[in-house]
Amino acid sequence: MSGDDDAVRQATSAFTERFGTAPEGVWAAPGRVNVIGEHTDYNGGFVLPVALAHTTRAALARRDDGIVAVASLQHPDETVEVPLAELRPGHPSGWAGYPVGVVHELRDRVTGGVSILVDGDVPSGAGLSSSAALECAVALGLRDLLGLELAPADLVDVARRAENDFVGAPTGILDQSASLLCTADHALFLDTRDRSSEQVPLDLGTAGLALLVIDSGTTHDHAEGGYGDRRRECEQAAVRLGVDLLREVTDLAALDVLADGRPEGDVLLRRARHVVSEDARVLEVVGTLRDGADPRSIGPVLTASHESLRDDFEVSVPLLDACVEAALAAGAHGARMIGGGFGGSAIALVDVDALDAVTAAVTSRFEREGHPAPRSFVTVPSDGARRLA
Ligand code: GLA
Repeated sequence: MSGDDDAVRQATSAFTERFGTAPEGVWAAPGRVNVIGEHTDYNGGFVLPVALAHTTRAALARRDDGIVAVASLQHPDETVEVPLAELRPGHPSGWAGYPVGVVHELRDRVTGGVSILVDGDVPSGAGLSSSAALECAVALGLRDLLGLELAPADLVDVARRAENDFVGAPTGILDQSASLLCTADHALFLDTRDRSSEQVPLDLGTAGLALLVIDSGTTHDHAEGGYGDRRRECEQAAVRLGVDLLREVTDLAALDVLADGRPEGDVLLRRARHVVSEDARVLEVVGTLRDGADPRSIGPVLTASHESLRDDFEVSVPLLDACVEAALAAGAHGARMIGGGFGGSAIALVDVDALDAVTAAVTSRFEREGHPAPRSFVTVPSDGARRLA
């Protein structure tokens, strides 16, 4: 899609064709990559995402027959129609659950029903938050159409509850915050406990650097077990440490009490060690960027995050490790898996003139191991959710 105008034209004409009337507006919300701060959000910790240039668009119009109707250009054979009165968590499932989940959150206000046409180019199942992009585009659209007094943080909660309660994926607020709050040329430094945030300038281009996103091609699903298991382990570790959230622990030595000889003690120690050390790594990266130091120096911190996610948190998979290893061997300054894990994407911080070499190295590693070539692209920090028309 070459620009916002084309995106509006495409969504508008598809909406009109599908629903027989023009939409009242078109909204867009981006996917994200998290520079650092993984599995910290549901522990009250720090995150540092940037928004992708890739967005999901939602064209909306109110109805008066009490029906929620959703259609998607990416799923052309399936228009879902549900009476508002019959909405209940888990139905519909699949892609339609995200927009319908947002409507469900706002059901007291969407009294006449709504038609929604979705279009977008955020790769799905790649750990780039296509689901949050979809939720946030719809949430913003409903806010504007219905004149709802919802601050950005309220919209984050609406979208996050759609994902947690309607779709059934027990995520934190990282993805929805990134999609709604990020701004171009900045990373969003967010304290997920008190919700304070700061836009940290991230100008890699001037330093001759690029942020390469590598989609490993292995898909993930956070409604499945692994993510929820990690979340419960973190909660258990917090209880044993006598804190509400692991965020409150800043001294790694304080975690030693977790290894108390009980069978799960060592696992809880490693899970907590990831979270506590990851929070410290976010602060280190933010400090470096705020000081205007050479962004290359954040590279080793990104790689340390990967090692911690791989060894202590155990959410990486061999293909993500392969992306990171191949990128580093070909000269990347740092690399890590991103998102919830168990598949999805990795990022690498690369000198612009080494981009081809790094991409080729990852591709040939995949080929050697018998996997299809990964999709990769360079991303620049882009704007968060907005109304296009
Ligand atoms: C997924 C979740 C987020 C966050 C990350 C891991 O993307 O949706 O809330 O927990 O995993 O950092």
